[in-house]
Amino acid sequence: MKLTLKIWRQKGPNDKGQMVTYPVDNIDGDMSFLEMLDVLNDQLIESGDEPIAFDHDCREGICGMCSLYINGEAHGPDRGVTTCQLHMRKFKDGDTIYIEPWRAKAFPVIKDLVVDRSSFDRIMASGGFVSVNTSGNTVDANAIPVPKEDADNAFEAATCIGCGA
Ligand code: FES
Repeated sequence: MKLTLKIWRQKGPNDKGQMVTYPVDNIDGDMSFLEMLDVLNDQLIESGDEPIAFDHDCREGICGMCSLYINGEAHGPDRGVTTCQLHMRKFKDGDTIYIEPWRAKAFPVIKDLVVDRSSFDRIMASGGFVSVNTSGNTVDANAIPVPKEDADNAFEAATCIGCGA
């Protein structure tokens, strides 16, 4: 597969940044989106250019580090998958793909596609979380309020070991 990539390049937080066009060839449909970026980075390194900075960690759809905007959509055209689990078979030979970092004030760009995620880290460190229903209709047990009387009865039942004291 032959593609044209239009990628946000930004040297640092204070750089204006711009979209830069890169052609890539020999992209297999079974490659992940990040593997496709690896191919481009290998080409850039070989030609003496600076590789594109992008975040990733697990590459297994777990950590969420690989967040990108692809063709104007969070994580690209697939649904319910992270960027590292997006496969190139979702694109067609000859496609032009726009790749940008998250565009949010809370996530300022550090370099290219890498953003400062410390605001999100601070929310997690303070115990904040977002609950998202990802398992169909099953209600998360922790989301079901328990009346105080039932909780007290359960506590008493759980602490009494029947010793007769
Ligand atoms: S790299 Fe961890 S979810 Fe994509």
